[in-house]
Amino acid sequence: DWTPDAFVETTVEELKKEIGDEKVILGLSGGVDSSVAAMLLNKAIGDHLYCIFVNNGLLRKNEFESVLDQYKHMGLNVKGVDASARFLDALKGESDPEGKRKIIGRVFIEVFDDESHKVENAKWLAQGTIYPDRIESVSASGGPSAVIKSHHNVGGLPDYMKLKVVEPLKMLFKDEVRRVGASMGMSEDILGRHPFPGPGLGIRILGDITAEKVAILQEVDAIFVDGLKKWGLYDKVWQAGAMLLPVDSVGVMGDERTYEKCVALRAVESTDGMTADWVNLPYEFLQKVSNDIINKVKGVNRVVYDISSKPPATIEWE
Ligand code: XMP
Repeated sequence: DWTPDAFVETTVEELKKEIGDEKVILGLSGGVDSSVAAMLLNKAIGDHLYCIFVNNGLLRKNEFESVLDQYKHMGLNVKGVDASARFLDALKGESDPEGKRKIIGRVFIEVFDDESHKVENAKWLAQGTIYPDRIESVSASGGPSAVIKSHHNVGGLPDYMKLKVVEPLKMLFKDEVRRVGASMGMSEDILGRHPFPGPGLGIRILGDITAEKVAILQEVDAIFVDGLKKWGLYDKVWQAGAMLLPVDSVGVMGDERTYEKCVALRAVESTDGMTADWVNLPYEFLQKVSNDIINKVKGVNRVVYDISSKPPATIEWE
């Protein structure tokens, strides 16, 4: 019978045997999979695991600082790399969704390659790949591992890809990964997180990306997600987020007409992201969140709620 405790024990032993005293590099995304993989490796080889957590400038509000802090508290040997400016610069003027994904993927690989060179004599690349990732071509788990995977077959591999690969979660499903994390004492804060796409807010800002748009969307998203947590709704939702639309609409403030941004809120129920239903959130909640967004976020004068299911509407708008 499979139990998380037994899995941790045997996996840690196997990792010790396989890796010995060699060095391992791992890209943390803030998500469940890479975090649990890191904890297992940390148990097995301690500081011979070198974790790299990249800020692509498209994370949620305060996410880089707070998640980095949590990783340090978990005892991980982690380096935070703030590459926001590099990503935003590369994205300047790009408004095609696939174009944005490609740029974000490419810059991530450049940054990760630079950082991995700084770890002398590393022999292994660890990834938080889980069983469904190996079947589906598009990973719903997001993050560095998804980016890395989608570039696996491209010629001229970056140097870190010449490393031996270790994937301690490759036989597990998502719920098993969560149970393994819990059995190692990881906090619900990390284990219960909604999925978040690797390209982050970059595919929730429709059209081209600027630092100002990122700042607006981070505020909107934080009000929505914090609201879900406050109202006890966060765990009832599989994934939630806000989209910044490329339309300005008319509003009134005092006796002035305004012409400002519109945001769409999206919350879905799903098991694997392949199909999804919009969540029937309470009107009182939507009313409160909408008021808070319009009152607190400068530049936004309209909030809409997305009531489309997948298929045909995808979860992300890009
Ligand atoms: P869609 O929008 O295709 O999303 O219904 C399904 C799930 O996949 C996530 N997603 C991505 N994850 N890179 C990722 O790592 C991407 O480019 C990407 N696009 C979508 C999305 O957040 C949802 O969980």
